[in-house]
Amino acid sequence: MRTAPGLDVHINWRFKAILPVAATLLAGIALFFWVTLSIPPSDRRTVLLVAAGGAVAICAVLLVVLAVLVHRPLLELREKIARLEQGDLNVTVGFAGRRDEIGELGRSFNAMVRQLRESHEQIQQLHRTQMSRAEHLATLGELAAGLAHEIRNPLAGIAGVIQIIGRDLPPGSPTREILKEVEQEVHHIQKILNELLDYARPKPLQLRPADLNATAERAVSLARQQIASRPIEIEFRPAAEVGMVEHDPDGIQQVLLNLLLNALQAIPREGRIVVEVHNEDRYATVAVTDSGCGIAPEHLPNIFKPFYTTKGKGTGLGLSLARRIVEFHGGRIQVETEVGRGSTFRVWLPKRKIASAAQS
Ligand SMILES: Nc1ncnc2c1ncn2[C@@H]1O[C@H](COP(=O)(O)OP(=O)(O)O)[C@@H](O)[C@H]1O
Ligand SMILES: [Mg+2]
Repeated sequence: MRTAPGLDVHINWRFKAILPVAATLLAGIALFFWVTLSIPPSDRRTVLLVAAGGAVAICAVLLVVLAVLVHRPLLELREKIARLEQGDLNVTVGFAGRRDEIGELGRSFNAMVRQLRESHEQIQQLHRTQMSRAEHLATLGELAAGLAHEIRNPLAGIAGVIQIIGRDLPPGSPTREILKEVEQEVHHIQKILNELLDYARPKPLQLRPADLNATAERAVSLARQQIASRPIEIEFRPAAEVGMVEHDPDGIQQVLLNLLLNALQAIPREGRIVVEVHNEDRYATVAVTDSGCGIAPEHLPNIFKPFYTTKGKGTGLGLSLARRIVEFHGGRIQVETEVGRGSTFRVWLPKRKIASAAQS
């Protein structure tokens, strides 16, 4: 009970429950006292004693009734809540069968514990499924990476042999065309294997203060080599004062190159890509904007998931790897896109890596 600001007085609930009854009884006795004033004093004393005794007895009976009806269930509830807190989800209270408000409280408590138990079992089940799926995926990933590694060397041998055969063929031979196609397919397989291996066995990243403009520029010049003769322009806008940003230059170069290759692939014929480095307060950002096809809303939630691709010859690993590298830096990567107009992928890198991210 709040009596004055800052002062809390705890009053036993039994006292509070009995107080109105006792007050009524006292008032009754006072009234009785007044009414009995006309009775001779010797008789009056006996009458008053009997009345007072009766009042005390009523209070005592009330207390016992309260203890049985209210106090015992409350004690049980307290004990069961304590067991629930310890993690025992099989507790139930015994007074749930009563046909009053206390019984209702008991039924609600039992229902709540049952729901808690069911949710807990569901979560555990989900956890078990996810764990076994994760283990399964990890084993599959290891297998795939091992396989990719084993295939890579013989494949390089095959590519070499194809080149030699091609050189030995007479210039007008139709087999030359076929060999060229085989060579292209072999290069495609090599590309997939390399991406898979990059993803499954990433090179260790080492962060150090380095010039982000220079890193971005290297990615841009590598991407320009991929344009071939297509009418696509890549504009590079370095930040005026980016200073040193703590990053792994090879890792971030790979991130930007992945974004740039996606941008090139998103442009059907001619178009334009802008790479812009920006200097913000605690972060430096690099944005890659293309005038390509944009990303449809149904694909957008999935594009960062490994192996998600909408391209016939894609691996779906580029963005997933990019995000992993950026997150290792304590940064983030986001996309804004409009179908038919193009997309902007923006990478935020903390200029100085936040300590907690350094553990990951
Ligand atoms: N700049 C972009 N414009 C349009 N779609 C894009 C762009 N970048 C990525 N995407 C979409 O995201 C998917 C996943 O990209 P990514 O992980 O690099 O795999 P991949 O390029 O092998 O398909 C792509 O298949 C494509 O649908
Ligand atoms: Mg890609």
